[in-house]
Amino acid sequence: MLHHDRCHGFGGRHRRCAGRVADGLRRRGRNRRRTGGVGAMTRNRGTATGVQGSAAGSGAQQVPASWGSLRRWPDIESPELRAWDATDQLLLEHALAQVEAEGLTGDRILVLGDRYGALTLGLIEAGVRGVVTVQDSVALLTALKANATDLNIDGFSAFTSLDEVAEAAATPDGGFRLVLWQLPRSVAEVEYWAVALRELLADGATVWAGGRDKHMTPAMNKPLEHWLGPVQPQRGRKKSRVLKVSVEARQMDADAARKVLSPQPRSVLVAGSKVTLHGDARLFGQNRLDPGTAFMLEAISDHDIDPEPGQEVVDLGCGNGTIAVWAARRWPDAHVEATDDSAAAVAATLRSADSSGVAGQVRAVASDAGEHLLPADDERPPDAGRPDKPYSPRLVLVNPPFHQGAVVERAIGEKLLFAAREIAGRGGRIIAVWNSHLRYRAFLRENIGQTRQLGRDATFTVTETRV
Ligand SMILES: C[S@@+](CC[C@H](N)C(=O)[O-])C[C@H]1O[C@@H](n2cnc3c(N)ncnc32)[C@H](O)[C@@H]1O
Repeated sequence: MLHHDRCHGFGGRHRRCAGRVADGLRRRGRNRRRTGGVGAMTRNRGTATGVQGSAAGSGAQQVPASWGSLRRWPDIESPELRAWDATDQLLLEHALAQVEAEGLTGDRILVLGDRYGALTLGLIEAGVRGVVTVQDSVALLTALKANATDLNIDGFSAFTSLDEVAEAAATPDGGFRLVLWQLPRSVAEVEYWAVALRELLADGATVWAGGRDKHMTPAMNKPLEHWLGPVQPQRGRKKSRVLKVSVEARQMDADAARKVLSPQPRSVLVAGSKVTLHGDARLFGQNRLDPGTAFMLEAISDHDIDPEPGQEVVDLGCGNGTIAVWAARRWPDAHVEATDDSAAAVAATLRSADSSGVAGQVRAVASDAGEHLLPADDERPPDAGRPDKPYSPRLVLVNPPFHQGAVVERAIGEKLLFAAREIAGRGGRIIAVWNSHLRYRAFLRENIGQTRQLGRDATFTVTETRV
């Protein structure tokens, strides 16, 4: 089990501790431990023998030596959370058996949704170099790259979408032959990726797609069968399962594919403004108006809350850009910064801003917890020592995520609220909506500042906090 000396994640309740963590947004924690987990670290093994012995079904269950040093940073870390799981093991074993059987080179291999890098780095450690890895989450891609740097492993190209792979001409002639895929949890998202993948695959390619039993459903087989080819479930292990998808030559229904990849935008009226929302199945809420967000925007409107003249507005965790677009329409003089960990969300926000006629007012950037908006050390808010330093606090609007497992969910929301504090800066304000059962009010008061309630119904609470 990995363990680190740093404060764990963003769940620290003390301001000092949180400050350290926010600081960690910019600097990867030092004092990385190089022991523990599964065996001693080795680097850049030249052959596949390191994990071959564990080919699926052989009974032996070794894992690559590098996995013992994998970290989740900048994602939440805690002693209970590991950076790889049995799905990674199964996927890697099946893939390496196929690499050996077919004599595949790394440039014919695509890794999708690798999280902290277990698959990409495991392949390279086994001597398979040149793989392409795609990850929508900026934080997870950062984790993967940081692990590669720490382990001194190179030999892969990383992208945040399959469109980027195509634009960079990183698809091999004839298409990829092998895909290792950590499946997303929603069937609709599985379908999105299946459609997007098909264009990049060779006929006869194999997709190894896996996940935890509790996150997989038989309904996932349908889009895989429909868009790619026959699905053969494999024997599971340690509560993980893998599907083998054999890609067939097929005529794609272009219209149906377009509907999955680029659903029609949806126009809705929210708190007095019309917003047009784009978004596909990779996004929380796709192209729909989130009820919590609608409730927050109504509350802002009811309380006549406005940014100070010239004050920047931030949509932290922008999803499809509802908040950013609404803010730009309501405050035509304000500049709006939108940001999300998901590259797909940022792309959707830009399209939403464009379709809603506010593209000139909204900038959207993919980053982990708005890291790029944190002030540089020499731009910190004025303090007793530097009262003359010009500084402009911000108005941050946030609907934090809370849709992961019960233990982690709070820490994820708190991570964004701590980040909101840093982004708003002293004198700034944070308006947040949250599921009332999460009881963030005490957290906001204790860790950020004076907090008042702007609205509450059976499900949601909206608060305004002064930093
Ligand atoms: C509850 S959704 C809100 C989406 C959108 N603002 C809306 O109102 O519909 C939370 C959003 O936070 C994003 N998110 C989660 N973790 C994040 C992180 N570490 N940094 C930035 N965004 C994050 C998710 O991708 C998701 O889009």
